Amino acid sequence: MPTTPSVAKMNPIQKRAVEMGIDLHALPSHVAIIMDGNGRWAKKNGWQRLLGHREGYKVLRGALLDCSEIGIKYLTVYAFSAENWRRPKDEVDGLMKLIEQAAKDELRTMHKNNVRVNVTGRIEELPSGLRAALEDGIETTSENTGIVFTLAVNYGGRAEIVDAVKDLIAAGFDAEEITEDLISAHLYNPHHPEPDLMIRTAGEMRWSNFLIWQGAYCELWVTPDPWPDFSTGHLLEALKTYQNRTRKFGAVVE
Ligand code: IPE
Ligand code: IPE
Ligand code: MG
Repeated sequence: MPTTPSVAKMNPIQKRAVEMGIDLHALPSHVAIIMDGNGRWAKKNGWQRLLGHREGYKVLRGALLDCSEIGIKYLTVYAFSAENWRRPKDEVDGLMKLIEQAAKDELRTMHKNNVRVNVTGRIEELPSGLRAALEDGIETTSENTGIVFTLAVNYGGRAEIVDAVKDLIAAGFDAEEITEDLISAHLYNPHHPEPDLMIRTAGEMRWSNFLIWQGAYCELWVTPDPWPDFSTGHLLEALKTYQNRTRKFGAVVE
């Protein structure tokens, strides 16, 4: 049975979590975040939407560090959905450039912090520079043993299921061989545990096609605050709420 690290050995976010009553041994293994509300945040301040995305990137940097330091094993964040191509061209282009620049600029720090970088989504459809930056991140950090940080770019849950089904057909499976486990094994990151907790910012009570297969039983936590206002306090609040939930997976739990 693991014991809680002594207060002297805990880092500041762990201390803060324990003070709030969070059990560091019962953290969700996999946290997923729908980082929404960048556009509204920018508009509220009278700025272009892209400035909201830039601010969102800075906030993500902090959230990754917080998750890593508190002891989350997997963090997956929704950076660009398969449906976000419907946005105006200048916003899409700006986002592609921003993600590419961020991937390049953050690589050294992430590597130093033992972060293992990963992506999910149809990355073969991304601009070549962005794709190269993401692949460089994956390769450089492939031996790291810390938090697995997965960026969902050009990701759609339905597209992921379609791709899995195509793989199964190409591999020659018969209808009677198809099981849930087999489909799970053909998703983009079959070795990742399913998300336990999904956080969404900016108040929308929907899934927006994020991890719809793997997240079938994940716990949802939504804050009205937009992503650029997300703080350590929000993360800790989400973790505390998660620990007060009863996960039942369809069964009766007394
Ligand atoms: C989330 O913020 C970031 C992306 C979808 C890329 P939005 O851009 O969706 O912000 P709102 O929802 O318009 O405020
Ligand atoms: C989900 O947010 C996608 C990302 C955060 C990248 P959206 O803003 O695209 O979702 P909808 O359109 O409000 O459902
Ligand atoms: Mg949005």
